[in-house]
Amino acid sequence: MSGESGPTSGESEPTAGNPPVRRLADWSAQRLRALADEYETPLYVFDVDRARENYRRMAEEFPDAHIYYAAKANTARPVLQALADEGAGIECASAGELARALDAGVDGSRVHYTAVNPPARDLDVAVRLAEEHPGVTITVGAEDTFHRLADRGYDGRVCLRVNPGVGAGHHEKVTTGGDAKFGVPYERAANIAESAAAEFDVVGIHAHAGSGISGEDLSAHRDLVGRMGELARDIEERGLDLDFVDVGGGFGVPYSPDEDPLDLRAVAEATREALGETGATLAVEPGRYLVADAGVLLTTTNTVKETPSGVVVGVGAGMTTLARPAIYDAHHEIRNLALDASERPAREVTVAGPVCESGDSLGDHWLPDPERGDLLAVGNAGAYGYEMASQYNSRPRPASVVLDGDDARLARRRETIADVTAVEPEGDR
Ligand code: LLP
Repeated sequence: MSGESGPTSGESEPTAGNPPVRRLADWSAQRLRALADEYETPLYVFDVDRARENYRRMAEEFPDAHIYYAAKANTARPVLQALADEGAGIECASAGELARALDAGVDGSRVHYTAVNPPARDLDVAVRLAEEHPGVTITVGAEDTFHRLADRGYDGRVCLRVNPGVGAGHHEKVTTGGDAKFGVPYERAANIAESAAAEFDVVGIHAHAGSGISGEDLSAHRDLVGRMGELARDIEERGLDLDFVDVGGGFGVPYSPDEDPLDLRAVAEATREALGETGATLAVEPGRYLVADAGVLLTTTNTVKETPSGVVVGVGAGMTTLARPAIYDAHHEIRNLALDASERPAREVTVAGPVCESGDSLGDHWLPDPERGDLLAVGNAGAYGYEMASQYNSRPRPASVVLDGDDARLARRRETIADVTAVEPEGDR
């Protein structure tokens, strides 16, 4: 992977016919059915071309910004590589993500590690990897993390994470800005940056409002960017040169067919205007925006049960496969891919998973009357889908397959029960 000096944007030609959103209805039912036949279900399917398109659209609207892909949304190696090849840097939330981004061949100078209350083991690994891959930036959100880095002999590139005092998000659990857990208090940030500069190379400042910048409500994002611009000027007046001001990710995507896509141009204009004059380059960290509509989850109907309170359609994918509906009450569109689906009347059903827990539901949906054996596709599963899957109920994680043009290849094989028990001491198995 090329690139020595930070991610570049605008280096790829924007593709003609790059729609701002790919809806679940736009996926080829025939291809999805063939994939389910070949790889079985539940199966995550991810189209890297769509992630490339999303990146190009963002690079076109933010031509002067560094774009760091927030890897936590989807860490599959082909996804990291495709986005890095387009020019993206990678934002990593843990030592594991850092190791995987570097292992995927991304140059250290294009990798940020955002250390949130980092365990000692994470810092040990991060410092070692930063030595091996010069140019890695460690983003620090608490003063004592600087001491912990210094104790490990680190004096390289750091970015100061600031609590901007404003947050936004699709759910209270993903509203980050304003939560004291993240970043140093805004009022003290300039002083902290100044003293950190005595020991480290302070290259940037960072804040993240939360997940879900929406078209209607840009105000939290604008406030955050404005505050970061002011802080950058304060720090610059103290004689420090900042390479970048990172205003985080959180660019929302439509989860329902009647929701409009984000007007990225309006967001980009608002961002530039709110940032104001600074010698530093703008940086953004989109996760969901780049990968959500590039992925679907395929699952099979196992039981259809008529009950006095409605029809329950039991499918193979549950909260251990796609956790978002159970955790955030998130809506994911579902499509019945049965060959004769268009001939069946639609009815409202509850789609439930195989986990012995009532929260294990993919929600209520109007679907062409589901029958046992039908293949269903769950939309917008490319972001925070596989990543949040678990082995709860001793359920092996699903397979995930990556499409690149006409090619399909496994990104993660289906786990087996032996994978679930592989961590137990041998004598116990
Ligand atoms: N930068 C930082 C520092 C973050 O913490 C996050 C997300 C992002 C960037 C990317 O945010 P995005 O553009 O993807 O919204 N599991 C939740 C989302 C949690 C996001 C946490 N941080 C969900 O499924 O909605």
